[in-house]
Amino acid sequence: MANANGNAVLDSMDERVKACTICHSAEDKVGRDAYYPRIAGKPQGYIFNQLRNFRDGRRYYQPMVILLENMSDEYLREIAQYFSSLQLPYPDPERIKMQPEEIKLARHLIYSGYPKRNIPACSACHGDILMGVEPAIPGLVGLSRAYITAQLGGWRNGGIMRAQTSDCMSEIAKQLTESEVNIVAKWLANQPVYGKPSSFDVLSSELVDRCSRTILENGGAE
Ligand code: HEC
Ligand code: HEC
Repeated sequence: MANANGNAVLDSMDERVKACTICHSAEDKVGRDAYYPRIAGKPQGYIFNQLRNFRDGRRYYQPMVILLENMSDEYLREIAQYFSSLQLPYPDPERIKMQPEEIKLARHLIYSGYPKRNIPACSACHGDILMGVEPAIPGLVGLSRAYITAQLGGWRNGGIMRAQTSDCMSEIAKQLTESEVNIVAKWLANQPVYGKPSSFDVLSSELVDRCSRTILENGGAE
């Protein structure tokens, strides 16, 4: 960054991300029911892709668009790397009451899917322990119910086309009923968080091709 005279201004990473951590790092204060998603510790390529999506108008959240609009890919990549390497404690799981049949349905959808409806198991892409897969698939635990519902709802309603290329997640969300979305969001928000994202080789070739090989393998790097 340069000021009006072209001189370099102080640009440590802590300075750079101050504008972000107002919303993204006060996990201990905000707690899980807040809508702000956690970004610390997420796969680097995933964070990078989302930053580009916000900047380039594929994902909408005005306060972030304003911050990101003049940032280069290089700059966004460094920010992504910074947040990806941050290790912050996770908040406690939410405690949302669920009926036994809801828990059964959530577990079935997440670990087995409904192949007849073209819905793969969520865990097949998001990892056995649902912590995501490096470098570009995010985890599904450690997120609030409100946030998960909003993301899946946005895809179902066709309002979000955020992926860089073929939007596999949007196709899957469109197969889910509103009631399935609500049940899955409750179940996920109730889970404790442990472990790390899995490595790319756990993904089947078929599922990789269903999304985008370049994105899932390289996280958007050229
Ligand atoms: C005013 C609060 C606010 C500020 C400031 C802010 N964010 Fe966000 N951020 C949000 C919200 C809310 C969302 C979810 C938006 C949505 O519905 O898609 C989000 C989403 C994200 C995501 C996607 C998370 C995911 O799991 O998909 C990333 C990455 C991110 N922000 C990074 C940043 C960075 C980097 C900055 C600083 C340059 C920043 N944010 C500044 C509130 C904020
Ligand atoms: C074929 C692989 C695949 C399957 C199966 C899959 N997902 Fe995804 N999911 C993705 C990818 C890739 C992304 C990241 C999209 C992007 O970059 O915007 C994603 C993102 C998400 C997000 C957004 C997370 C965040 O931090 O914003 C949610 C929520 C989600 N998936 C839920 C689910 C659920 C629930 C299921 C099972 C019904 C599922 N996914 C099955 C590939 C998959």
